[in-house]
Amino acid sequence: MVKVGVIGGSGYTGGELLRILSIHPEVEIKWVTSRKYIGRRISDIHPNLRGFIDLKFTQLSLDNIDMIDVVFCCLPHTVSMNIVKKIYGKTRIIDLSADFRIRDPAVYEKYYVKHMCPELLDKAVYGLPEIYREQIRGAMLVANPGCNSTAIILSLYPLRKFLEKSFITIDIKEGSSASGRNPSLSNIHAERINTVRIYMPMEHRHLAEIRQVLGIENISMTAHAVGMARGIYATTYIFTENLPSEKDLWKIYREYYSKEYFIRIVNRKYPPYNLPDIKGVVYSNFCEIGFKVDKGNGRIIIFSAIDSLIKGAAGQAVQNMNIIFGIDEKTGLDYPGFYV
Ligand SMILES: NC(=O)c1ccc[n+]([C@@H]2O[C@H](COP(=O)([O-])OP(=O)(O)OC[C@H]3O[C@@H](n4cnc5c(N)ncnc54)[C@H](OP(=O)(O)O)[C@@H]3O)[C@@H](O)[C@H]2O)c1
Repeated sequence: MVKVGVIGGSGYTGGELLRILSIHPEVEIKWVTSRKYIGRRISDIHPNLRGFIDLKFTQLSLDNIDMIDVVFCCLPHTVSMNIVKKIYGKTRIIDLSADFRIRDPAVYEKYYVKHMCPELLDKAVYGLPEIYREQIRGAMLVANPGCNSTAIILSLYPLRKFLEKSFITIDIKEGSSASGRNPSLSNIHAERINTVRIYMPMEHRHLAEIRQVLGIENISMTAHAVGMARGIYATTYIFTENLPSEKDLWKIYREYYSKEYFIRIVNRKYPPYNLPDIKGVVYSNFCEIGFKVDKGNGRIIIFSAIDSLIKGAAGQAVQNMNIIFGIDEKTGLDYPGFYV
């Protein structure tokens, strides 16, 4: 059994992680920390876990950290690096924040703050299994990717040869749980529902990791907050003179992802479900990718959809844990989404 500790378990990613771990046959949850809810039952805060996890939140103690096999850090960025620098080397760490995703401390500082432990940046492995599986296997520190980054990188990585000299722009639609459980004016239900609101017209932070993995700078992004609770929908426009056919794209994606269980290429004949759909992936660890070639306008259009809290966070973190400990990668994650 893999002995697990969860730091910051009272938030949304912590809750989803605990839900997945509670039915994972190879995991024993040893402790879950919170500042606000010390001594309270986990199911007081995550009511869906009643009957599944009979533990109380505890205060974080670094004393016996080496008694567990892996720690999941579900903390806000900047908070996480302060904890990780104290526990690095004592146990495996899967960090869900942005703190170890970016290799260059100057780039991290541009998008976030000054890094507190830049010496650990090149020790971290970017936790996108479909691309970095071999490196994840031996990692002491896994930087779990951002939710938008996951949807975008997975959909664009096989197309790298079309990206370098193209004009690329991404349109993101994001559900409210991506902002975390801490209330703010912009994520109150009444403010968020029945509208589509631009929340990051340009230079979204996730561009830093997207550029780093794709190895290009010529990519822009505009993000919208929409009135759903979870899910990421990314539409990417690639304007290029080197236009492939849809048949070429099928071949590229099939070849790249033929063995990837959690990637579904969706390009069917009959609408309305012929292309990726949030309803096709929500509550699951699947990523759907689809495409169209708009010959008249010289563009490839790529669509991708994920559940932000699962493939975009907790599910991917469990997938990474499975890889590290040699467990079948699908364990705890092998179920379809909920459609209605
Ligand atoms: N939400 C998503 O869809 C998503 C997707 C991908 C990645 N992420 C990343 O995952 C991390 C967690 O996100 P989340 O959505 O779960 O956030 P959240 O709902 O706000 O939860 C954050 C957790 O961190 C704890 N915490 C907050 N401030 C703290 C501090 N100063 N010291 C110690 N603990 C603190 C909170 O617990 P207490 O207040 O009880 O201590 C809570 O358990 C973030 O870095 C986020 O960017 C989120």
